[in-house]
Amino acid sequence: MQTHLRGRDFIGDLDFSKDEVETVLDVAFDLKRKRALGEPHAYLRDKALAMLFFFTSTRTRGSFEAGMAQLGGHAAFIDSQTTQIAHGDTAKEIGEIFGRYFDGIAIRQCDWQFGNQYINDVARASRIPVLNMQCDIYHPFQCLADLMTIIENKGRDLRRKRVVVSWAYAVSYSKPISVPQSLILQLTRFGCDVVLAHPPEFKLMPEIMDQARDNARRYHVGFDVTDDMDAAFKGADVVYPKSWGPLLTTTTNDEGRTAIEKYHSWITDQRRMSRARADCIYMHCLPADRNLEVTDEVVDGPQSVVYDEAENRLHVQKAVMALTMA
Ligand code: CP
Repeated sequence: MQTHLRGRDFIGDLDFSKDEVETVLDVAFDLKRKRALGEPHAYLRDKALAMLFFFTSTRTRGSFEAGMAQLGGHAAFIDSQTTQIAHGDTAKEIGEIFGRYFDGIAIRQCDWQFGNQYINDVARASRIPVLNMQCDIYHPFQCLADLMTIIENKGRDLRRKRVVVSWAYAVSYSKPISVPQSLILQLTRFGCDVVLAHPPEFKLMPEIMDQARDNARRYHVGFDVTDDMDAAFKGADVVYPKSWGPLLTTTTNDEGRTAIEKYHSWITDQRRMSRARADCIYMHCLPADRNLEVTDEVVDGPQSVVYDEAENRLHVQKAVMALTMA
């Protein structure tokens, strides 16, 4: 069991080795049990977490804030717009100064080709752990919660489980590509046969694809890519269809809109779910564009695990905070 996590950053999914992620999951399951039993677990008494948001959030903010309170500490919600960042505070200054006030800095900065760089710049200047609450490249805590949820439903041995990470149609906004990228990076280390489905305009970053292929070779799992959503769903144990923007193809709104509008049919409905295994679970990180990405019938149906998935954000985040910030 690898436990050497104190003081470490968690910015990319592969920052923690597979063995270290196993440790995080063990602790997360223990914390979930403790919370269910009402057992105190104040591992971070008197510690404080800065939560710096450049982007809106429901689950991430709520779960980090509640998690810190349950660990006996405090989380400070800091909206970037009410800081002096717009008036010149640099990433270095945030890292240096918050590093002296707090015991951890969590950041959500999803701007394309900027967010990950910003979080790493803060981390370089900080003397305390920096945690990625989602950037333009990764959403590592979401992926840990997803992995925990898959294990709860399919068991700890995920070999030969077909997990489909699929693009889906949505109109609300051009969503980051961080969730599918984190999923293909992490799940290929945990035995799953991963299938990535998307229309041609919705490719992921080539370097992330290369890392996922390397993982697949190393861990002897499948990693296939298709542009056929129906074919991807056939025989699936887990489906995770969600929207993301065509960021590798275009960053202009009009061209992006045109690309998205070609693929109305990429919805998860009962017909598509019936192509998967009868015990297949439906996953989504939320928020979802209801009746565009997924029908109400599926997201509210018996195969959906979206609320367990959202809950598990709390447990994995508490595990990482307790292991890195103690
Ligand atoms: N899934 C997720 O990160 O949700 P929020 O954007 O609401 O934090």
